[in-house]
Amino acid sequence: MANTHTVSFKLNGKPVDVTVESRELLIHTLRERLAHTGPHIGCETSHCGACTVDLDGMSVKACTVLTVQCDGADMVTIEGLEQGGVLHALQQAFHEEHGLQCGYCTPGMITRAYRLLQENPDPSEQEIRYGLAGNLCRCTGYQNIVKAVQSAAKKLAAAKQATPAQPAAAEGAAEAAAEAAAETAAAQPVTA
Ligand code: FES
Ligand code: FES
Repeated sequence: MANTHTVSFKLNGKPVDVTVESRELLIHTLRERLAHTGPHIGCETSHCGACTVDLDGMSVKACTVLTVQCDGADMVTIEGLEQGGVLHALQQAFHEEHGLQCGYCTPGMITRAYRLLQENPDPSEQEIRYGLAGNLCRCTGYQNIVKAVQSAAKKLAAAKQATPAQPAAAEGAAEAAAEAAAETAAAQPVTA
């Protein structure tokens, strides 16, 4: 294959090496080479957000990123949010609040909301709507999506409050423990 490159990055916590063409888009690498089909292809023009992934702590549209740009990156897709069979609080909340209909936008919507709640753990309704403005949904009218994000934010905050104060050096571990507690509290089997 002419003009190829081997690119290495972390995908949902696991190291990955993949050989791609210079022009290959990240969404195609994820779906066609790495079997991560959670991120969807909607518009392929950076408008719909169906392809959203988390790249080095930022929400990006994988249809607008070249895979060769991701060398050394730390990437999270919708597949990386569930841990050990336990859904993330956002995944659980989208289920409970009926934040989806066809589900096509949902992986991108949840992946974006995951980063939004880290940027702003207590967003207002307006901030949620603004924060998700790059993710389009043609089915739900957005109301239940907003409710789901509000519900997840509350659960994550309650779990964090329930965690005793930690010394500064252990803050990171405390945050991880709070999030894990929230996820556990929110865990229910999903069959939809
Ligand atoms: Fe990437 Fe629509 S497929 S933004
Ligand atoms: Fe169908 Fe959002 S649930 S596009």
